[in-house]
Amino acid sequence: MTEPQNTDVMGDESMSSGTTTSSLQAVVYSVNQIQRARDLLAKFYGARKTILFYASDHPASEATVAGLFDALDRFFREGVDVEIALYESELHFGQQFLPEESVIFDQLIRDLMALGVGSIVFRRGLTMSELSRGISIMATDPLSASVAGGLSRMFTEADVTNIAVGTIKALRSIEKSELTPEDARASYDDAIGLLREVDNLISRNRTVNGAMVRGSVRSLVDNVVSNRYAMLELAGLKSYDEYTYYHCANVAILSLALGSTLTQDSRFLVALGTGALLHDIGKMSISLDILNKPGPLTAEEWTTIKNHPVAGAIQAASIPGLDKAALVIIHEHHQRYDGNGYPAVMNSRPQHLASRIVAVADAFDAMTSRRAYSSARTAVESMQVLAESGNVALDPTLTRLFTLIMGIYPPRSVVRLSDSRVGIVMHPSANDLLKPVVKVITEQDGTMIEGHAVDLSAESQLAVTAVLDPQDLNIDVGDYL
Ligand SMILES: [Fe+2]
Repeated sequence: MTEPQNTDVMGDESMSSGTTTSSLQAVVYSVNQIQRARDLLAKFYGARKTILFYASDHPASEATVAGLFDALDRFFREGVDVEIALYESELHFGQQFLPEESVIFDQLIRDLMALGVGSIVFRRGLTMSELSRGISIMATDPLSASVAGGLSRMFTEADVTNIAVGTIKALRSIEKSELTPEDARASYDDAIGLLREVDNLISRNRTVNGAMVRGSVRSLVDNVVSNRYAMLELAGLKSYDEYTYYHCANVAILSLALGSTLTQDSRFLVALGTGALLHDIGKMSISLDILNKPGPLTAEEWTTIKNHPVAGAIQAASIPGLDKAALVIIHEHHQRYDGNGYPAVMNSRPQHLASRIVAVADAFDAMTSRRAYSSARTAVESMQVLAESGNVALDPTLTRLFTLIMGIYPPRSVVRLSDSRVGIVMHPSANDLLKPVVKVITEQDGTMIEGHAVDLSAESQLAVTAVLDPQDLNIDVGDYL
């Protein structure tokens, strides 16, 4: 019997019951197991097709389900679940991308994606009758499945507990113009959830599923490209307790906003987003006592902190399928434009363009965040600091470009207008960086109102006269956006 290569999955209680969405934990199959994937997929295709034409209790259906069950059971007896993931037109078996099977089973992939399926896990403990019910459900037409509340609900109602389907937004082909602010929020929340799970897996020395990271990043890319300012408004969200997760998600959005003005090449943007989202994973294994220490660090603590780009790159290298450029970004994000920074640069190799982009985004988000050892600057102050740091720490061309995207008054800035009303900046206007589009939230006498958008560049009498601290006004900016 072939020994499964992955022992992480074995004994993991979270994988043994329930109909949750796909696990972030990697499944890495042996060569022998991967070679059997095509046979298993053919049997899955055949069983679904047969049930589609006959009732599930027809002898022909029973025979094809039994054949599929035998193929699955062989994996179960080897101690692994069977995980199939769909990424656009790509079919993955665990961590392994199967290029030939992606073509051979194109119809199966399309049928499953039409049902909203991004991944399927067949778990140990599955019975033949459960498999038969599960395949019948997966043979439902998309409209009926939607009316019935989706496959997960149908599985629950049919007591199918050992087949889990995951719906992954990025796996569906989404027309970019269809993306809404709600999609932007879902993408942001997905990234935060992913980072929590990455932290959890790293702390347990488990391998992270690269396809899931790519799915989250792809969703961020799609949303930033199509809905930049909805995403940039979200990139102002902060969490003191979960600083690293929010910081990493924000840096990913800011980096993608900057990177997507240079190129729309999806491979570059996915690598950029991945490196940005994971740029600080090396900090996830550092004690919070050190990360949040209010006073000066000891030499030993400082050495630990300075090692996080190297530790992070090593951790990311263990995630199967990540673009190598993402590892470079993680390694280089604290290097500086002038060649200083850490870790020390070998052979005067210039910092990679993607690393320089992330460095700008990292600096901006860090400055606007409250930490134990420093208070938060306003976004406006931070933009000024960035503008002054060009040519030394940061690439001056990129900082200028960043200013054009963010405006002099970045999204979420609270400003007083020349007629005394208060507004929250939504985004810069197309033709005047000093006159952004704002949501006006007070009357002239200070009375709070529900808020409406005003493009200051179209109002010759109106201008920004001051930047305000939302805490002084006792408002939560998020309530108005
Ligand atoms: Fe860092």
